[in-house]
Formats: sequence, C-alpha cells, structure tokens
Amino acid sequence: MRKKIVAGNWKMNNDLSETEHLLEDLKGQVIPNEVNVMVAPTFTNLQFAFTSLKNYPIEVAAQNMHQDQSGAFTGEVSAQMLKSVGVHTVILGHSERRAYFHENNAVLAEKVSAALQNEMNAIYCFGEELADRKGENHFKVVESQLREGLFHIANSDWKQIILAYEPVWAIGTGETASPEQAQEMHQFIRKTISEHYSEAVADNVSILYGGSVKPDNAKEIFGQPDVDGGLIGGAALDAKSFMAIVNAF
Ligand code: 13P
Repeated sequence: MRKKIVAGNWKMNNDLSETEHLLEDLKGQVIPNEVNVMVAPTFTNLQFAFTSLKNYPIEVAAQNMHQDQSGAFTGEVSAQMLKSVGVHTVILGHSERRAYFHENNAVLAEKVSAALQNEMNAIYCFGEELADRKGENHFKVVESQLREGLFHIANSDWKQIILAYEPVWAIGTGETASPEQAQEMHQFIRKTISEHYSEAVADNVSILYGGSVKPDNAKEIFGQPDVDGGLIGGAALDAKSFMAIVNAF
C-alpha cells in the first residue's frame, strides 16, 4: 500500500531562530497517524531540526545533495554527511535545482544512485515548463525525466523512491494545476512505471503533487485517485497552513 505523504520544502527560507519557531509551532499541532509528514529545512538547520523533532512524527529531509561520497567539491554536501546528522531522505531534481544550478537528468541519475547506495530515500522531482505544456509536450518531457533520471534503478530500489510531479508553471505562481490535470499526469506516470517495471511497482510508489498547493485547494487535489500527497513550498512556511494541508486528505 502506498503512503500518504506531505512534505514541506522550505527552500532558502528560515534562519536558525526562524527554524526554531516554525518547528515549535509545528510541534503544537496534531498530526494524523495515516500521513507521513516531512520538512526540508536548509542544510545549516538540518541537525537542529532533527534534534528538535526527535520525539515527533515529523521526518527531516534535505533539499539536495552531491552524488559523490566526499572529495574536492567546494560547497557541496554528501549523503554520508546528511546521514550523520539524522537525515535519511533527500529531495532531488527540484525544478529550481534544474533551472538555476543546471542539474540535468544525467546528474540526477547519479544522485539517485548515490541516495540508494547510502540507503537513503529520494523524493525525485520533475515536471514540465509552461512552453512544454502549451506545445503539448508535457507527457514527453515527463517521460524523459523519469527514464533518464530514474529508470536505471532496480525493481527493489523503488521502495526508497517517492515521486513529486511539480509542473514548473505552477510553482510559486499561485496557479495550480487543476485536480484533473494533476490526476491525468499522475495516471500517466503510474502507467509509464508499470510499462517499464511492473504494475506492483507502479501501484506502490507514492506520487506527490507540488505547485501552489494551499489549504483551500489541497483537498480536491489529494482527492484524486493517483495523487498521494503534496510537496509544499510557500504554504509550508506557516505551521497552521501546512497542517491544514496535512489534514486535507
Ligand atoms: P509552492 O508551493 O510555493 O508553489 O512551491 C512548490 C514547490 O516548489 C515545492 O517543492
């Protein structure tokens, strides 16, 4: 059975004291048993967040990592380093990493492999740009992001993978994909995985939707049969709105 997941991607927001405040606010909220809740603070606050959330059912994830174990990669952080501060899940391939830091599917394939080798879970992000959708290329783009970045993994690796479909045109714009558009793409993603792997693999993987999810639209999006939760940006920076989304299933 696939899991319901809501993950907050804090992006480059919240210094240490803001992190402390937001975590305290989150800890004051009731978290439903059936939803896996995650937050992804910036690197410098991961250890603090892990310690702060020790007795709470909120997992700490990282927003990125390097594909090598160690070495001369100034400014980078490895899987080993993340694990040493309690982090076992990493977001990979976010569209902002792809756009501003030139991460392509080939590099992401290496990052996915590094996560798997280090027994970490990966939230693999992908999604088309506005021009792709307007040109009706969105299925093709998503298929290649999956094939080139992810389809080198083995059947048994899928238990460590969470997918996050984030159409770039819906991120931080206030323009959400309609529930029908989200469902259509999530169904396509599951069908594609089923064709390359098996129906069981496709059925068991959680596929999150991301892009302007807010308390007032989450219920309808999460109500779609192939949507298993969300990757939340802006609305994750406020405990009340994040928890309203967590409780929107
Ligand atoms: P917004 O929810 O702010 O649109 O961001 C979505 C996102 O990029 C989550 O990773």
